[in-house]
Amino acid sequence: MNPLPSVPHLSPSPESLVPDENEMSRTHLIEVKDLSRHAEATVTVAGWVETVRIHGRVAFVVIRDGTGLLQCVVVKKEVDEATWEAATGVTQESTVELTGSVKPDDRAPGGNELLVSTLSVVGPAEEYPIQPKEHGVEFLMDHRHLWLRSSAQRAGLRVRSEVMQAVHDFYYDRGFTRIDTPILTGAIGESAGTLFSTDYFGDTAYLAQTGQLYVEAACPAFRKVYCFGPTFRAEKSKTRRHLTEFWMVEPEVAFADSDANMRLQEEFVSYLVERALERCAPELETLERDTSVLERIRPPFPRVSYTEAVERLQAKGSGIEWGRDLGGADETLLAEEHHLPLFVYNYPKEAKAFYMKENPDDPRTVLCNDLLAPEGYGEIIGGSQREDDLDRLLHRIREEDLPEEAYNWYLDLRRYGTFVHSGFGLGIERTVAWITGRPHVREMIPFPRLMNRLTP
Ligand code: 4AD
Ligand code: MG
Repeated sequence: MNPLPSVPHLSPSPESLVPDENEMSRTHLIEVKDLSRHAEATVTVAGWVETVRIHGRVAFVVIRDGTGLLQCVVVKKEVDEATWEAATGVTQESTVELTGSVKPDDRAPGGNELLVSTLSVVGPAEEYPIQPKEHGVEFLMDHRHLWLRSSAQRAGLRVRSEVMQAVHDFYYDRGFTRIDTPILTGAIGESAGTLFSTDYFGDTAYLAQTGQLYVEAACPAFRKVYCFGPTFRAEKSKTRRHLTEFWMVEPEVAFADSDANMRLQEEFVSYLVERALERCAPELETLERDTSVLERIRPPFPRVSYTEAVERLQAKGSGIEWGRDLGGADETLLAEEHHLPLFVYNYPKEAKAFYMKENPDDPRTVLCNDLLAPEGYGEIIGGSQREDDLDRLLHRIREEDLPEEAYNWYLDLRRYGTFVHSGFGLGIERTVAWITGRPHVREMIPFPRLMNRLTP
């Protein structure tokens, strides 16, 4: 239906857009990532102490300033006593400010060392709870506010940030309008089973499970729209794929059918992977990600109908029966045959949400798809063509026993100029877990919310 343009070019890299760092922040501090521009000059840097090693009359203090790591060399006979005392007594994660000259050194991380003239401790750290030994996951999660500083956590969250920026660039380049949808809502978006509700001046409000119904409303105003924000599910499952608060990007396109919807998905996912490969190479290396598997990700992705998927699964010994949604184990079994993400399309009506369009060729099914990531990461996208027929939609709302009055406004969209339209939702944490090769979604969001975790 709606032909899709090819993958857009990459937007300009951040470096080319920003003014010099001093101009921007009006500080005398130089960022570690920029030190090569200051070779042999005297500069001041500030950061947090990662390690201190003392070899006789020389101390090596490695700091992290958020833009890179820097080894700072303190030679006793070249500094005053206060600096030597500070350098040899400073504790891990103390905040320090150092002045010295920049010495290019190919062996150093970042390609430079700092030959220190003065070091002062700005914020001393008490004994740091996270040590370079194996801590249990619960301990690390209890200290999430500190765990963020560790290299693997920094790398994962940097990739998340890049992927989120790539989401906006992708839709911006294609002329989509961003629509911010409410978090407090009056109607169930997906399913009654996983709703968070709260008192709303004597009424009940639900935390949004999806922005979809609202982007559908924005479609006749803007044609191509998307929302991107936190969504909430009271998931009672403790799996590596489930959070109770996660971020979802949801495009919605007028005059696009289910086939065009899948084409948009494969272009989009390929673009996100390409951006991570292009701009997060050091982070992916820190995480020891095998990037060769990511380099193969480009359209078209293989497609299999739900009905055929069930046959394949049964042949592999799964107990799945036609009519049931696929479980995590089934998704892994199916996806292991492919190194590209796999579309599974046209699920049975009873396994999916009320708003999906009935398949005219097989009314037991709906025009929808899930996208399963390779390497056992499971579903990263759920999407569908929407039911655009007023009577059928009303019938489905009644069939599901949903409160009709809460959907009156949504039904209006079929009363006032209905049209073919489709959209999907991509979960950011699952996508970033797959791209980075990390096993659990909880590391892919700065402060995860899980069934048993509300702090920090
Ligand atoms: O398949 P879902 O439930 O689809 C929707 O919400 C549709 N309204 C989207 C749309 O058509 N506009 O969720 C979409 C995606 C999933 O594929 C998954 O990536 C992610 O959201 N997701 C979760 N991620 C982490 N934790 C959870 N509990 C998640 N539930 C869904
Ligand atoms: Mg789904």
